[in-house]
Amino acid sequence: MTDFIQFRSITKTFGGVTALRGVSLSIGRGECHGLMGENGAGKSTLGKVLAGIHKPSEGDVVIDGTPHIFSSPREALSAGVAMVHQELAFCPDLSVAENLCMGHYPRRFGLLIDREAMADRARTLLNAIGVNLDVWQPMRDLSTAQEQLVQIAAAVGTNPRIIVFDEPTSSLAEPDVHNLFRLIDDLRQRGITTIYVSHRMPELFRLCDKISVLRDGQYVGTLGKDEMTHDAVVRLMIGRSVEEYFPHHLAGSPGDTVLRVRNLTSPGLFRDISFDIRAGEIIGFAGLVGAGRSEVAKALFGLDPRVTGTVEVNGQPLQLQSIQASMRAGIGLVPEDRKRQGAVLGMPCRANISMAVLDRVNRAGFLNDAKEKQIAANFFDQLHVKASSLEAPVNSLSGGNQQKIVLAKWLARGGRLLIVDEPTRGVDVGAKAAIHALIDGLAWKGIAVMLISSELPEVINLSTRVIVMRDGHIAGELARAQATQEAILRLMAGVEMAS
Ligand SMILES: Nc1ncnc2c1ncn2[C@@H]1O[C@H](COP(=O)(O)OP(=O)(O)OP(=O)(O)O)[C@@H](O)[C@H]1O
Ligand SMILES: [Mg+2]
Repeated sequence: MTDFIQFRSITKTFGGVTALRGVSLSIGRGECHGLMGENGAGKSTLGKVLAGIHKPSEGDVVIDGTPHIFSSPREALSAGVAMVHQELAFCPDLSVAENLCMGHYPRRFGLLIDREAMADRARTLLNAIGVNLDVWQPMRDLSTAQEQLVQIAAAVGTNPRIIVFDEPTSSLAEPDVHNLFRLIDDLRQRGITTIYVSHRMPELFRLCDKISVLRDGQYVGTLGKDEMTHDAVVRLMIGRSVEEYFPHHLAGSPGDTVLRVRNLTSPGLFRDISFDIRAGEIIGFAGLVGAGRSEVAKALFGLDPRVTGTVEVNGQPLQLQSIQASMRAGIGLVPEDRKRQGAVLGMPCRANISMAVLDRVNRAGFLNDAKEKQIAANFFDQLHVKASSLEAPVNSLSGGNQQKIVLAKWLARGGRLLIVDEPTRGVDVGAKAAIHALIDGLAWKGIAVMLISSELPEVINLSTRVIVMRDGHIAGELARAQATQEAILRLMAGVEMAS
């Protein structure tokens, strides 16, 4: 394969931060090229340089023999480059159809926007990637997964020669992931070159012809198909090998019942949910996206105005439908949708972390600066947050590091019951291990943990018990010893146990 894309000595600085430092890298035509590296290594920045979102400070990109320095996405697009972003990229108030046709609304008599034609075009784009949804609903009503699919449809719909996928599966469920892989195989057959950024090694090993690794903004190396192993990648990423750390949580003797849920029901979302969590337990919630796990979590945190049933925390009845009541009862929620609800993006990291613990840093009406700093610094350390300082605004951090800030915000709070929804989504191997250890540590301190995760190994290894949800109800519960991948998958899919 010839070098279809050549990054030549790309350097990119943001103010005082050097995100990329002389990166040179070649990619063959029609290749699916993986890009890995720790959170903040520069993967998204490199993708954005290729897609014209960031103009490089130095260097250029040669595509099919022609050197380019793009200074807008439009320029990159006309050279055939599209990108599926890690963060949100649409107007939340406009409909799916309007977002998909942005910039080239079909018009009637050259004047009126042709709504039918617009809907048709949007549906065609979505159908091309096997997605079916109401194109007139506003973007803000979509789940993160649906939004990600719309982004993919938009990128593929520009008929590009090159597509950059920046963590495209981070909020997709299994069937959608499967469809995306088929799509990428299909793109490859049509000769389209893809750059695939992800922290999920099995995905990269399955899809990519080669994997290149960045470390601290520098290119460190490329692995061919036969060299791709967990260890080889991690070695390139951080210079030493690390096992995926799953603490062995010893069930020991859990304490008193912290959370008692009976017949929790929300019309259309979930029904008759009953379970208990005792102090020191980590209860894993498995299920397909849409099974109702995040909805139950939100309801417990007071975010569902239609929920009914009874919930007790430490034996006291919890007033439903009130965030204040839930927080007062000691419930914390690390939401799944951290892109939208997690952090105040323009505020410094320090303030974001301490926001959830204001009552503790606030003595006699004063914000205790030293205390606030100390709490934030602690979490920075434990979660290996990469930022220029505690004062850096959250939106200047890489995607994975933003996730860590939101997580820190709630972990700092502690409380009685911590609900974590997809806690390690989008973070690198090292940070993942650190997050597992933190959650495990909280359970050891006697906090009850509700762990929602789409990664079965994470659920299996971290949980003391696993509850499987399907179609809005509890399909079954498995003790730690029975919670095998196969048993969970069967319950998730609703397959009867074979003899
Ligand atoms: N707009 C910006 N302003 C300031 N700094 C930035 C900006 N965008 C990125 N950076 C910095 O550049 C570095 C690389 O960030 P980048 O987003 O490319 O990392 P990444 O490899 O994609 O990480 P992740 O796995 O977390 O998504 C980080 O230190 C980040 O803080
Ligand atoms: Mg990124």
